[in-house]
Amino acid sequence: MKYGIFGGTFDPFHNEHLKIIENAIINLKLDKLIIVPSYNPPHKKIATDFKKRVDIINLYIDNNPKVIVDEIENELKLSESYTYLILEKLINKYGNNGCFIMGGDSLVDFKDWMHPDAIAKRTPIIVYSRDNMQNMLNAKRFAEKNFNATIQLLSLPLCNLSSTFIRLLFEIGSTKAAKYISRKAYDYIVNNNIYGEHKMLEVLKMEVNNKTFMHSLNTAECALELAWRNPNINLNDVLIAALLHDCAKKDIILKPRYSGVSEAVVHQYTSADKAAVLFGVSKPLILDAIRYHTTGKPHMTMLGKIVYIADKIEPSRTYEGVEGLRAYAEHDIDNAFLKILEQSFEHATKKAERVDILTEITLLWYNAT
Ligand SMILES: [Fe+2]
Ligand SMILES: [Fe+2]
Repeated sequence: MKYGIFGGTFDPFHNEHLKIIENAIINLKLDKLIIVPSYNPPHKKIATDFKKRVDIINLYIDNNPKVIVDEIENELKLSESYTYLILEKLINKYGNNGCFIMGGDSLVDFKDWMHPDAIAKRTPIIVYSRDNMQNMLNAKRFAEKNFNATIQLLSLPLCNLSSTFIRLLFEIGSTKAAKYISRKAYDYIVNNNIYGEHKMLEVLKMEVNNKTFMHSLNTAECALELAWRNPNINLNDVLIAALLHDCAKKDIILKPRYSGVSEAVVHQYTSADKAAVLFGVSKPLILDAIRYHTTGKPHMTMLGKIVYIADKIEPSRTYEGVEGLRAYAEHDIDNAFLKILEQSFEHATKKAERVDILTEITLLWYNAT
């Protein structure tokens, strides 16, 4: 029997996982595709309950006779999921004509797995990737040379969809997750409240008024949607920065050091202070994105730009031209940031409003670079 092994946490299984297994069955002419969800050891909470993750996969595969969900990792209850040990047992069970399927990111990390040589010795490796990223090609050469691995690269139009992204959408109560998983999986997750509410929402709800709370959820959803295709961005950071960007909006400002700053701008500084003190945020990258979400600043990080843009184009914003900015931001974060910066400057100038000096400096800096 020719079979492929596809392992992972699958928390949750999503449309790109399905795309990979469907392609593997056809392209590799497999008799069976074995999905092997990782076990979560009781002392280390790494993922949602094993059975629930398996239920979601079963809803996806819908009795496809070519697909097996093997619960071997749950049966073995190993404290760590060591692929070389599991693989040995799967080969004993299904025979020698198997292959091991992984994504491009896993190949880059493959050298750090436990006994990669033992894995490479037992089975050929199939790698699905979005494109031939240089670091993946280097990893392929490294594994072939050092572990005697047989690696075949297969390219699929994948978008870097991650389970983390989907989980975070559920945690902020966004219905957008329905775009990235099947209807049945979506309903199962919602009906069983698998992912619960993000831990910061309870406090945030008490700290801001309802309008700002809804705006913060919308900004978080929008920021996640702008960020998820970018493999270099930490989506947890995006979520926290976007959720907390206005967390001090209704607070009375007592700090004299902000006395010269206008009311429209001062909350960016106080929100960053509050995110640190009340919400325990310590990452400078996140605090920086909050601190300059109204004015912008020279040398904005990608996270800073995403929060800045999401704040101005989230779904409840209705000003003229916002639709165009939304479409633009989907493809080009850097230029969308500059466009919005220019527009808010022009808007303030037209209305003879005072423009914050930092906005002026930011605009001059970006136009000069
Ligand atoms: Fe704000
Ligand atoms: Fe805002």
